[in-house]
Amino acid sequence: MLDSYARATSIEEARKKLGGRGRIIKLAVNENPLGSSPKASAAVHAVEHLNLYADDAYLDIKERLAVRHGLAVDNVVVGHGSNEIVKLAAETFLREQDEAIIALPSFLLYRLAVIVRGATPIEVPLVGGVTDLDAMLSAVTPRTKLLFVCDPNNPTGTAVSRAHWRRFLERLPPEIVLVIDQAYREYASSDVVDAIEDVPTRSKTLVLRTMSKIYGLAALRFGYGFADSETVGMLERIRLPFNVAAPAIAGATAALEDEEFVKASIANNEAGKGQLFPALAALGLDHYPTQANFYALDVPVTATRAYEDLLREGIIVRSGDALRMPGKVRITIGTQEENALLLAALERLVPSWRA
Ligand SMILES: Cc1ncc(COP(=O)(O)O)c(C=O)c1O
Repeated sequence: MLDSYARATSIEEARKKLGGRGRIIKLAVNENPLGSSPKASAAVHAVEHLNLYADDAYLDIKERLAVRHGLAVDNVVVGHGSNEIVKLAAETFLREQDEAIIALPSFLLYRLAVIVRGATPIEVPLVGGVTDLDAMLSAVTPRTKLLFVCDPNNPTGTAVSRAHWRRFLERLPPEIVLVIDQAYREYASSDVVDAIEDVPTRSKTLVLRTMSKIYGLAALRFGYGFADSETVGMLERIRLPFNVAAPAIAGATAALEDEEFVKASIANNEAGKGQLFPALAALGLDHYPTQANFYALDVPVTATRAYEDLLREGIIVRSGDALRMPGKVRITIGTQEENALLLAALERLVPSWRA
């Protein structure tokens, strides 16, 4: 069954629901609370020649991305957000009757992309909140064509260990296309898997990254992927011409050079964890260990109730009921001020949740 992608509540919707009262903060879709790189904004505003199509080969940005990771231009695919590359991968590698393996819960778009293609998603529950790579291997059948791993995983924030990852790569049949979505990898500690390292040694490994999170460019829509040249060539065959707009290229190019902004974003995220996690523990609220810019918080009421109560407090989070993660809400780590407002709201709400 195809359930449509359940969207997060926008600030405008929340404002309407609250009758225009008070401040609203959105901690729902893992955006960068620091905004975006000033260099990227300046580059977007400086874009000229809007009458001209972009260079459809996207050579300059592909080369920059390739060089950073010791790869070649023909190892890079660019997309209108990494979302587009997820869809492109399903369109390219799946036919009706095929199966694609996905963790449960994980990023909802994988399931949607598989079902739209007429193929069958095979969903493998997490263990202890972590992607169960062994169980994913056990789910492989002759019909398996694609396997999605999200690491760090959305919506749990958890990451697999490097040792598990190694063992998994050794055992995964080489004909299966592995999509590893690392939208949050830049927030993770250095011991988390960096799957770009596996591109030279395992064909059919497509590693996805995005400029929407740590680079703060969600509105621009720029994502990219790395794989062997044959896999990239197959994706390129059905990629729409000019799928990435010139302002997105300009902004992404400038953002890649702005290391200071990336460092500030990591520092804000780490400070947020230090501010939030002891306070949440003091409130008796547990969460999975996170390697991302969000966390999955256990709530002692239904996820929908927790979401609605927080919304009335002017705080938009994501209900786990919409993410196939009941009993939890997913919350983005905000600025220090936003985190403090969230904690104050929880201090008011938790006693009534336990009453
Ligand atoms: C795991 C994961 N992959 C991909 C994306 C989409 O990123 P983009 O904005 O590049 O399409 C998101 C956004 O929330 C995400 O959480």
